[in-house]
Amino acid sequence: MLVAGLGCAPAPQVPSSPPAASAPGPNAVEARPRAAVAPWFELGKSFPNLTPTRISSAHAARGASAEIRVCPEAEAQYRSLVTDSEFADGTLIVEWLEDTRGPQSRRVLALERRDGAWHYWELDANGRGAELGPSSSCQQCHAAAPAPPVFGLPRKKAAAP
Ligand code: HEC
Repeated sequence: MLVAGLGCAPAPQVPSSPPAASAPGPNAVEARPRAAVAPWFELGKSFPNLTPTRISSAHAARGASAEIRVCPEAEAQYRSLVTDSEFADGTLIVEWLEDTRGPQSRRVLALERRDGAWHYWELDANGRGAELGPSSSCQQCHAAAPAPPVFGLPRKKAAAP
């Protein structure tokens, strides 16, 4: 299949801080690094919001309502999702969840298309978090999506007769 464009993930970043001066010795206990801010977090805030009215989310445990933002290159395809929709590498679909406590309660879930595969992310309000492995709970639910793993926007309910 021919996929146009390169999607809209940011270019890989070169770390701006110099490496630590002393390398840990062979017996050093590796400190668990503080989760880094996801490379696409800031960019993701500027993606078009496809849910001008917040939706009530299936991820209720992580926040009651959500908005979905999709990188501009994938917007048209996401809006008109069909079962065999395919997305280019670099596609990012981001769901911003929060509950009644407002932005401090924010959780950010994302689907990223990279190297021909889908990757799942879960971040906190500051964009810190991690990519989740393929056996995560995300994968189990999202396998049943209309264009796995992409659910797409909520379908409009048919007007009452
Ligand atoms: C209980 C089933 C379920 C689980 C578990 C789940 N999701 Fe979802 N997800 C959904 C449904 C249903 C939607 C459709 C929109 C909505 O209701 O929020 C969705 C939508 C999304 C979207 C918007 C893109 C789309 O598919 O249209 C993202 C991003 C997302 N989920 C990420 C995640 C991540 C990351 C995890 C794991 C931390 C996860 N989800 C776990 C059911 C689930």
